[in-house]
Amino acid sequence: MKRFVIDTDTGVDDAEALLMAFGHPDVTIEAIVSVAGNVGVDKTTPNVLKVLDAVGRDVPVYRGCDRALVFRKPNAEDAHGSDGLGDAGIPESARTIEAEHGVDALVRLANEHPGELTLVALGPLTNVALATRLDPDLPNKYRELVIMGGAVYAMGNTETRSAEFNIFYDPDAAHIVFSEWLNITMLSWEATAENPLTLEQTNTLSAISTPRGEFFHKITRAQIAMIRNFLGVETLFIPDPLAMAVAIEPERVITRSERHYVQLELSGYSTRGQTVVDWRDRLGKTANTTIVISVDMQRVYELMRQGLE
Ligand code: BDR
Ligand code: CA
Repeated sequence: MKRFVIDTDTGVDDAEALLMAFGHPDVTIEAIVSVAGNVGVDKTTPNVLKVLDAVGRDVPVYRGCDRALVFRKPNAEDAHGSDGLGDAGIPESARTIEAEHGVDALVRLANEHPGELTLVALGPLTNVALATRLDPDLPNKYRELVIMGGAVYAMGNTETRSAEFNIFYDPDAAHIVFSEWLNITMLSWEATAENPLTLEQTNTLSAISTPRGEFFHKITRAQIAMIRNFLGVETLFIPDPLAMAVAIEPERVITRSERHYVQLELSGYSTRGQTVVDWRDRLGKTANTTIVISVDMQRVYELMRQGLE
């Protein structure tokens, strides 16, 4: 059994990833921590509770940081809707969150179960960075840190082009994490762009007539239309489900990966937030990151489907 702590800025694809994790028989979700990113933490936190309603499961939820460490950034409402879940009218949940701050929870859980938990980070790394400062030995207490984030060939999805959204939102936090953790697995924006769902796959998932399937259908509708309008293609990008699939079944899902040293660019005028990979290991630094280069998309799709059935 894999035991996950999930840190998430619950937007549309975060919710899809949570559905996948809840639907997998070999995964136990120990806790979910919210963070600001796709929308503010006042929305990403209740969005986690809405996902719990959809799956009918109880997991402790902790509210995390409400902004990046240094500079405030615009969110991603254009892609996720003003409520973060596609403005589909998902009702507020009656569930409540824990009193403990999300950053404290990240530290406490790792200390209570050293070496047993995998931390899956689906949003900006603000909480993970602060937790690392509170407990400098934190990287040794989690088995692994799997992140959706970064653009390994500098082909990102933000206004700087070279940075990916989660990292761009809080590059300083990402700098702390990539400086202190050696057990990172990274699912990049380029891997996301290469592995979208086809329209046929999306339609099949949307037609699953379970509460989870209906939830998926509602929250993805607006994003599919947005991609059609902007890119002229019928597809759905699934960054966070890809990262979750990598966390759940790395041996089946990852078909090619490389380990290298990854460093944050913090001061470049048009490159702040770039994740710079030492592809040829020229610096002689210890590799800190397993970079996922290609995945078995059929298996990822099956894991998504399983999460909705
Ligand atoms: C990442 O940014 C967010 O918009 C998504 O939820 C995903 O985690 C993709 O760049
Ligand atoms: Ca996310």
